[in-house]
Amino acid sequence: MQKLAIEGGTPLRGDVCISGAKNAALPMMCASLLTSDVLKLNNMPNLHDISTMRKLLEQIGVTISVQGDEMLLHGANVNKLEAPYDLVKTMRASILVLGPLVARFGEARVSLPGGCAIGSRPVDIHIRGLQAMGATVYIEHGYIHAQAKRLTGARILFDIVSVTSTENLMMAAVLADGVTILENAAREPEILDLAQCLNAMGAKIEGAGSHTITITGVERLHGTTHHIIPDRIESGTFLVAAAATGGNIVLHNTRTDILDAVSEKLTEAGAQIRSSHDTMHLHMPERPRSVNVRTAPYPAFPTDMQAQFMALNAIADNSAMIIETIFENRFMHVQELRRLGAKIDVEGNTAMIRGVDRLEGATVMATDLRASACLVIAGLVAQGKTTIERIYHLDRGYEHIETKLSQLGANITRTQ
Ligand code: EPZ
Repeated sequence: MQKLAIEGGTPLRGDVCISGAKNAALPMMCASLLTSDVLKLNNMPNLHDISTMRKLLEQIGVTISVQGDEMLLHGANVNKLEAPYDLVKTMRASILVLGPLVARFGEARVSLPGGCAIGSRPVDIHIRGLQAMGATVYIEHGYIHAQAKRLTGARILFDIVSVTSTENLMMAAVLADGVTILENAAREPEILDLAQCLNAMGAKIEGAGSHTITITGVERLHGTTHHIIPDRIESGTFLVAAAATGGNIVLHNTRTDILDAVSEKLTEAGAQIRSSHDTMHLHMPERPRSVNVRTAPYPAFPTDMQAQFMALNAIADNSAMIIETIFENRFMHVQELRRLGAKIDVEGNTAMIRGVDRLEGATVMATDLRASACLVIAGLVAQGKTTIERIYHLDRGYEHIETKLSQLGANITRTQ
């Protein structure tokens, strides 16, 4: 089992290159199921979740090749309409093959994802949306079975804002007969990026990135080449790491206009941030000020940055409250931070963090993707050595994080 060993106390300094967005790449890979032409994706991140999605799509019959950060996907010979449990259980985003398979082939069998560390994360919204579009959907032996001669356009109102439900149903609707309207849709930048890719493939989607998305079904889609947007969560994670260590870094190949809620919180914490179109410069001249955070759907503060800000608040100058409104169990990193000396009390979905002058290195365990990032940040500021176990969680969403951090001066190594 691999671990990360970190000797804390060094401010991060220098330049770092941000990779393509995992949560844009995953649905876009599934869009290859919607056409028999070749889909070419540039700026692909090299992540474990991407490899898992590649394995799943190849099992379904998509031919995939990778050259550097370019991935070619060819869905001409799809011959198996199933996403098996052994793959779906490792990555919830596998559910994103459901909409495209039913849209193009009229049928799909996708294993229920099961829960995960951060909550039960049901898929009822995905299922109800397909039923609204005329699919027959039933659950049997832990699998979702969906069938439809041809999906028909429908008006679907989301009672909860859901990112992958919005993506799944948007992809289902592009080949449906008629117009589909998604009300109270998620507004994440990754959804707009997916819509732009689908429109380049011949889809007719309007309003992506707003609360109401209108999709007019077409007969078929063709291939295209699409450049994936930068990963705003990777960007935010490096900015917080620099702020926590009192550093001075420049992010390259990022996007400044999709990180406003995070930038504003970092400025409130005392960071000096200067941005141009694809670079962000953060300098942290003194100890961070404590900042209250409340997660909510985009464009509000992202839940995927909650754990990272808990690490920042752990060593800030006062007390702060973090309220997690999206997932019911996304404080798994609290008990690990306490092992490093953090003072945190949790009451339901609210954590109260009292900043301490310093954290002490210790051995801690990663529990989920963003909790791992929080522990890396805490290790970078703790005095002495921190060892992080189960770092496969980290590799799901961060490309060579120890290499990028070492280039910023961190004393961090991966060990067996
Ligand atoms: C996406 O997950 C992201 N994953 C998550 O990023 C992110 O944390 C989350 O959106 C929220 O922004 C990908 O894009 C691959 P949701 P998703 O559906 O779509 C409930 C990361 O770190 N819900 O927006 O699964 C659900 O339980 C990952 O990269 C239902 O009740 O999240 C949650 O409480 C972690 N029924 C809320 O909606 C459903 O059918 C929002 O979940 C679907 C969701």
